[in-house]
Amino acid sequence: MPNPFSYGGIVRGGDFCNRRKEIEDLVRAGLNGEKLFIHGERRIGKTSLLRRAADELRSAGALTLMINVWKCVDASDLVDLCASEFAGAEGSRGLLKRVKSIFEGLSPAVAVGDDGRPSLTLARSSRGFSPEQLESVLRASWKIADSNSDRRLVVIFDEFQQIRKLGDDSIERVLRSVVQERDDIAWFFCGSRTHLIREMFLDSSSPLYRSAGHYPLESIDYENWFPFIEDKFSSTDRNVPGSVVELLLRITSGHPFYTQMLCSALWDMSESGRAVTEEMTEQALDVLLEREHSTYLILWDSLPEMSRRMLRAVAMDDPLRSPYSGEVLSRYGFKSPSSAGRAIEYLVAHDIIVRTAEGGYAVTDRFLGLWCRRNLLTVP
Ligand SMILES: Nc1ncnc2c1ncn2[C@@H]1O[C@H](COP(=O)(O)OP(=O)(O)OP(=O)(O)O)[C@@H](O)[C@H]1O
Ligand SMILES: [Mg+2]
Repeated sequence: MPNPFSYGGIVRGGDFCNRRKEIEDLVRAGLNGEKLFIHGERRIGKTSLLRRAADELRSAGALTLMINVWKCVDASDLVDLCASEFAGAEGSRGLLKRVKSIFEGLSPAVAVGDDGRPSLTLARSSRGFSPEQLESVLRASWKIADSNSDRRLVVIFDEFQQIRKLGDDSIERVLRSVVQERDDIAWFFCGSRTHLIREMFLDSSSPLYRSAGHYPLESIDYENWFPFIEDKFSSTDRNVPGSVVELLLRITSGHPFYTQMLCSALWDMSESGRAVTEEMTEQALDVLLEREHSTYLILWDSLPEMSRRMLRAVAMDDPLRSPYSGEVLSRYGFKSPSSAGRAIEYLVAHDIIVRTAEGGYAVTDRFLGLWCRRNLLTVP
C-alpha cells in the first residue's frame, strides 16, 4: 500500500489540506483586481496554494498566468519568461497571429515546447537586458486584458524574492510603473524569505514600496490537520489516536511540509491493522533528524562564531523573545548588543532565523531547531 503522505512537491486534490479561507481570500482579491504581496516561510505551502487559487479563479472565469522567477538566471530571462507566459495566457489558439500584435516591435521568436506550451525569445541587442523591453512585455498584460474585457486577468509571480538576484535594480521600478497604471488587473507577488519581501514593500526606499497589500501565509491550523491526518491513516488501515496527532503537531507546529514529512515517516513505521503510538512518533522524528544530520552539520560549520552562538540561543528558547536582554547576552557570550545584532542580521539574511510577529526570533527550519536542541550543549 503506498504511503498516503506527500512532501517535497506541489500538493493537489486529496493531498491538499484545507486552506479554505486563504483560497477564498485570494480568489476574492484576484477577482477584485487587487495587488498583493503573499509571503511565508520556506515550504509553508505557497506554490500549492497559488495553484489551487489559480484553478478556482479560472473556474470563476478569470484568466490567470503564473511566472516562476526561480527559472530566471538574469533579467533577460525574466523578460523572455514573462513574454512566454503572457503569450500563453489566452491558450494557443490563434497565438502566432496574436503574438505579433501583443508584442509589437519586439520581434518575438516562438517555439513550442514538448508540453505544447509556447516559449518566446525576444531579439535583443548585445547589451542584453533593457528596462524598456521589460516594460513593453509587461504592458502586453494591458492588451490581453483589453481583448478579454469580460474576464479578469490575474498575473502571479512565484519566488518573487529572486527578483533581487537578477542583477538589475530597474526591474522593480518597471514593475511598479506597469502594475500601478491600471486597476483592472490583479498582480500577486509571492515569495519566501519574508524579510526580503517585507523590505520590498515596507522599505520606503524600495521601488515597490506600498505598491500592494500584504498577505502573510501561516501554518495550517490544528483543527484542519486533525481530520486530514486521521483520514489518511484510517483509509490505509491504520489507527491514529488523537494524542498521537497532537504530539505530532506540537513537534511541527502545523507547518505543512514538516507535518507531511513526519506523518510519512510515522506511516512507514506503522503496520496494517495496528495503532500508531506516541513512542513511534518520537522514533520517526529520530529517523528524520538522523537523515538531516550531515546537512545541518555542514550548515553549522559554515556559520561565523557569533552567528553560531545566536543560533544556539534562538534554538534553545525557540522563539527567543528578548535577544538583547542582559541575561541572554551574558549567557550566550556576546560582548555587546551590537555583536548580537550583527549575528542576528547574518542569520536573518541567510534565512536561518526569522523575526516573529511578537518581535522575537525563531529558527526557520523547525527540524534544524530540534536538531540544535538535541545536539548542542545547553548553556547553564
Ligand atoms: N495545503 C496543504 N496541505 C497539505 N500539505 C501541504 C499543503 N501545502 C503544502 N503542503 C506540504 O508542504 C510541501 C511544500 O509545499 P509547497 O511547495 O507548496 O510550498 P512552498 O511554500 O511553495 O515551498 P518553497 O518555499 O520551497 O517554494 C508540500 O510538498 C506538502 O508536503
Ligand atoms: Mg514554492
